[in-house]
Amino acid sequence: MNAGLMTTAYIGATILFILSLGGLSNPETARRGNLFGIIGMTIAVLATLMGPSLSGASGLAMVLVGMLIGGSTGVFAAIRVKMTEMPELVALMHSLVGMAAVLVGYATFFDPSTHLTGAVRTIHEVEIYVGILIGAITFSGSVIAFGKLAGKISGKPLTLPGRHLFNFGLLIVTIILGKWFLDAHSLDEAMIPLSLMTVLALIFGIHMVMAIGGADMPVVVSMLNSYSGWAAAATGFMLSNDLLIVVGALVGSSGAILSYIMCRAMNRKFFAVIAGGFGTGGGTTSSASAAPAGDVNPISSLETAELLREAKSVIIVPGYGMAVAQAQHTVYEITKFLRSKGKNVRFGIHPVAGRMPGHMNVLLAEAKVPYDIVMEMDELNDDFPSTDVSMVIGANDIVNPSAEEDPNSPIAGMPVLQVWKAETSIVMKRSMASGYAGVDNPLFYKENNRMLFGDAKKMLDEVLNHLRTAG
Ligand code: TAP
Repeated sequence: MNAGLMTTAYIGATILFILSLGGLSNPETARRGNLFGIIGMTIAVLATLMGPSLSGASGLAMVLVGMLIGGSTGVFAAIRVKMTEMPELVALMHSLVGMAAVLVGYATFFDPSTHLTGAVRTIHEVEIYVGILIGAITFSGSVIAFGKLAGKISGKPLTLPGRHLFNFGLLIVTIILGKWFLDAHSLDEAMIPLSLMTVLALIFGIHMVMAIGGADMPVVVSMLNSYSGWAAAATGFMLSNDLLIVVGALVGSSGAILSYIMCRAMNRKFFAVIAGGFGTGGGTTSSASAAPAGDVNPISSLETAELLREAKSVIIVPGYGMAVAQAQHTVYEITKFLRSKGKNVRFGIHPVAGRMPGHMNVLLAEAKVPYDIVMEMDELNDDFPSTDVSMVIGANDIVNPSAEEDPNSPIAGMPVLQVWKAETSIVMKRSMASGYAGVDNPLFYKENNRMLFGDAKKMLDEVLNHLRTAG
């Protein structure tokens, strides 16, 4: 393929990626957005395979074998992964992008065919140094994020004494090593600062994510998403591949915007999150602050069906437990039934509900819930006082009043869905266990709240049966 055709293919792919991102911003156009992304990536891969950068049949064969191994591993992982394990998979994928940037950096450094001099050589070396730096931070940070999300590493923030000074020290040493790298007279000499910096960057990535508490993990996931984009862009600079630079920048900046949105949703300052120390241990185990603090009013599935039948307006708030129970289809059956009886049924979605951005929207779209009754938190928080029943399905932190009422709570300041302001709220969950942030939820003990204990899918099936039986 000649250079002109290749540039045209890359421009086409870039446009498709931009259209893809635009499509993904809305559930109604997300499918089309995904399709644009797939077509764009296919064009990009084909153009690269047919381009001048692959030397001969042996180069092509090597890339094809690599694609076969990588592609089949990806397909296997994507088929096997449960929806609730998606963030872990995404964190692992980010670590691979980081590792790729490091490996490409070293390969470029050792490339014997490069004979650059003067300013061009300096720019090339800066690209290598920065690419390996970002790649190593992304790699080790993502591995730790994977461990925290999978519950293999404690969600508790690791707050070493003098950790800010430590980070600042690492930054200074990295700059000094960078100067040494650029001034080195031989490959062997340059290798010393380069490998020292790689080790320091790996330590920094581990330390940075270890210091972030479980409750702030949504920001970490989107932040590493952004880093992986910048790592890809750095790889693009090293390989002089314009498309990789543009795509990396698209991922990097959209990840940064997502981090900002996540921080706003949790009322956190981005730099405060990165500096670490917030949040408690993750998981659903009860911590000291999660000890039961009062009596609760249990309710049966039959009584829940009766309350729903009498209600004129219902707001359903889904959370992580709905994803675990895979209850979205039954939720929609109940919604259809209630709407057929003339009731106003809407869904309230918190920006960090579940375990990944848009988790609830994806599940509800899969169950074919109409988009126009799926509202964002800000759109319907004022409507709870005029709502008869708010039904919380496997959600906990996102409906916790202590975020608004207790300044010492680890989730203090996070905006929440004010379900307790409805005439009656019903919380569906299996036990009194706390949510991801590990804090007790005073909602459970409110006088107008009822607890429907059990697996969300099983309880909702029962509610649906009672509704249908009574007609
Ligand atoms: P959580 O606060 O984690 O609460 C989920 C609740 O679901 C648990 O208390 C659990 O109680 C219940 N549950 C689990 N399995 C269930 C089942 N089969 N049937 C019924 N209930 C079940 O979830 P949330 O309210 O959606 O809040 C999300 C939390 O995750 C936030 O703290 C957020 O910061 C964090 N987080 C979010 C993200 C993103 S990007 N969205 C990423 C990482 C972390 P039982 O065990 O008693 O059933």
